[in-house]
Amino acid sequence: MERISVSADRDYEILIEINWQKSIEPYLNNRGQVAVIVSETMRERITDLPQTDAQIHIFTVPDSEAGKSFATYQKLLDWLGAAGFTRNDLVIAVGGGAVTDLSGFVASTWLRGIDWIAVPTTLAAMVDAAVGGKTGINSEYGKNLIGSFYSPISVLVDLSWLDTLSDRDFAAGLAEVLKSGFIADGQIVELLKAKTLSEVRTNQALTLELISRTVTVKAKVVSGDFKESFDREILNYGHTLGHAIELHSKYMLRHGECVSIGLVFAANLANQVGILSDEITTLHVSILERLGLPVSYESRHWPELRANMAIDKKSRSGTLRFVAISEIGKTLRIEAPVESDLLAAYERLCS
Ligand SMILES: NC(=O)c1ccc[n+]([C@@H]2O[C@H](COP(=O)([O-])OP(=O)(O)OC[C@H]3O[C@@H](n4cnc5c(N)ncnc54)[C@H](O)[C@@H]3O)[C@@H](O)[C@H]2O)c1
Repeated sequence: MERISVSADRDYEILIEINWQKSIEPYLNNRGQVAVIVSETMRERITDLPQTDAQIHIFTVPDSEAGKSFATYQKLLDWLGAAGFTRNDLVIAVGGGAVTDLSGFVASTWLRGIDWIAVPTTLAAMVDAAVGGKTGINSEYGKNLIGSFYSPISVLVDLSWLDTLSDRDFAAGLAEVLKSGFIADGQIVELLKAKTLSEVRTNQALTLELISRTVTVKAKVVSGDFKESFDREILNYGHTLGHAIELHSKYMLRHGECVSIGLVFAANLANQVGILSDEITTLHVSILERLGLPVSYESRHWPELRANMAIDKKSRSGTLRFVAISEIGKTLRIEAPVESDLLAAYERLCS
């Protein structure tokens, strides 16, 4: 087992390579009630419940973004209310990032905050969504608009969940892994260089090392800047165009797939303005492509993507700001790039 510490609104640990039912037992002592929040698809996999004297309730919510709705949030609060959840009780989120985001938000607002534990079941949630204490739901005005910064008391990363994850979702998680490599850990880039998706998936030691390195990057960044005032923004490498594509695709593409295209764009832009070498720019494309991730988008969509980027939360006072790298592990910002550079960077990734 590996332990990675986070120091944010509270100090907590991310435990990696554990059996979640066993590892959760100490957290259940002296609890009256426990709510396990799980998505419909994952419900059947909750069989052996942890040993505890507490009363366990299992609350099933719709999968993915459908669960991150105000209606589901309200239903969960009603369930907690009807069951009489107190400050001493516990919420356990078992699922992908959608479930951990939703459950963390429920925990953060019930009685002004009760304890919660994240048990991420997708690669993306293990390395990203469940780490860092951002919780939330979607509003009709946009994604993640309602939320809070509220850390869990622990994150339990049980790798056995990954056995049933689709190749598509596994690859999407790897986009975030590679992002962490480019911004802060060159060894991740080395480990992924020349690897296919199946070479990663079938190599458990490699998967474990990638998860633990990526979580370490995020834990360090989040511990230094929990509320994203500046330093945490580096985690948004590839996300400015990524979010714009996510919105444009009406969320039909996975978050990690959009980040993959966004990473290529960010590298192209840095190369275009003369701060990133051709070699590292091309490396973005070759690694992502070999992992089976998308690296291009249609040229005709640029006007809409450009408009979407303008409303992205990382644009400040009307100017666009991009996280970029000048070499592996060295981040900087590109502020208000000229339109011709943006367009050129986009044209280079068009199919
Ligand atoms: N809070 C944060 O810092 C943060 C960071 C990144 C992403 N997010 C959020 O996370 C969400 C995306 O998370 P995600 O990529 O995990 O997607 P997801 O939660 O939508 O899950 C993707 C699919 O995988 C299924 N699934 C989950 N675990 C499985 C398993 N072990 N085997 C088989 N199928 C499984 C789910 O039922 C779902 O259909 C988005 O809502 C995004 O906004 C949050």
